[in-house]
Amino acid sequence: MIISVAKEITKGEKRVAIVPESISKLTKIGHAVQIEAGAGKASGFSDEEYAEAGAKIISDIAALYSGTDLLLKVQPPEVHPSAGKHELEMLKPGALLIGFLFSLINIEAVKKAASLKIDMISMDAIPRITRAQRMDALSSQTNLAGYKAVLMAANEINKIFPLMMTAAGTISPAKVVILGAGVAGLQAIATAKRLGAVVEVSDVRPAVKEQVESLGAKYIEPPGEELEGSGGYAKEASAEYLQKQQDILTEHLSEADAVITTAQVPGKKAPVLITEAMVQRMKPGAVIVDMAAGTGGNCELTKPDQTIEISGVKIIGDVNIISHVAYNASQLYSRNLLSLIEYLTDNGSLKLELTDEIVAGSMICKDGQIVHEATKAAAN
Ligand code: NAI
Repeated sequence: MIISVAKEITKGEKRVAIVPESISKLTKIGHAVQIEAGAGKASGFSDEEYAEAGAKIISDIAALYSGTDLLLKVQPPEVHPSAGKHELEMLKPGALLIGFLFSLINIEAVKKAASLKIDMISMDAIPRITRAQRMDALSSQTNLAGYKAVLMAANEINKIFPLMMTAAGTISPAKVVILGAGVAGLQAIATAKRLGAVVEVSDVRPAVKEQVESLGAKYIEPPGEELEGSGGYAKEASAEYLQKQQDILTEHLSEADAVITTAQVPGKKAPVLITEAMVQRMKPGAVIVDMAAGTGGNCELTKPDQTIEISGVKIIGDVNIISHVAYNASQLYSRNLLSLIEYLTDNGSLKLELTDEIVAGSMICKDGQIVHEATKAAAN
């Protein structure tokens, strides 16, 4: 099978779907890999490294897309700025596209793919089951973003994180509050602790308390019953619940130097945990890194892809924190893709059986039909 790797065209995206180390593994299982010239440049991988690893470097974008059986991307397909055509229209019918498609919010692209008979697998829909852990790109990427968010906060505040004893006296540690202790939040806790901060954490699932405390952070008890959903995710909180949670958090945030917000309920707008009034009560010089900026923000003042300042508090709404660590993020994403392709490969071609749990969970369209149940429901 011919696999093509395209240079990302989404603004601000620095990652690349496949890094050189994965090329020989793909060729070993019977695939030929071609990559757009310069595709790895923004994440730190040169054309020479790809060529040495056995990939063919292609400058003709039309040929790269039309001559492929499988296109690998990071971001969802869109109109290609140089070709002046939608990426899906540049593929041949029957081709497969794998990337982060976020199909529920990109319904038009899904419908387009189905009408053009382009098959699509979405990496964000890989089921979170033990067998698919190596393919869980959402976790691999979010984990790195949680780490980076803390460094961004540390860089913005005018304090240091650790307790420091100096000849001129002792400096007390910074206080970091983390909202949401899922994949991003747990890594943020670990990172802030490693840097020496005092860390407090709010979440609403019962399983979280023990994890938070085992990382050496203090758990802020939720306002009422815990909201455990299915598959390790939270249930959506009611307006009344959120109001009580905001009341509890107000005091904790008023003493915080840095706040990292990661609270989410899959498929829903991010819960608002920080209101304008709460920001007004925070210390000037404090910073909020709102990781949920892309889904509405956990702070009601957050502006996606902007940093704003209200009453001396900086609110960072960077929606692509992962691109700041594009080298490692591309490495992990590439390994996630490789694991999926290895799993699907049967005698040099891909076996896409909808009876398989991993395929059924992540396949969005196949043979001109939308086959992913939730996406199908959203498309009607
Ligand atoms: P996750 O689903 O693993 O964790 C979310 C956590 O929020 C869960 O532990 C859940 O119980 C908790 N939660 C839900 N409602 C809550 C509430 N009312 N109060 C406190 N906690 C609550 O999600 P993951 O993978 O860690 O992602 C977190 C966020 O980071 C998402 O919004 C995701 O889109 C975003 N993200 C942003 C990036 C960026 O570059 N800005 C990069 C990667 C992820």
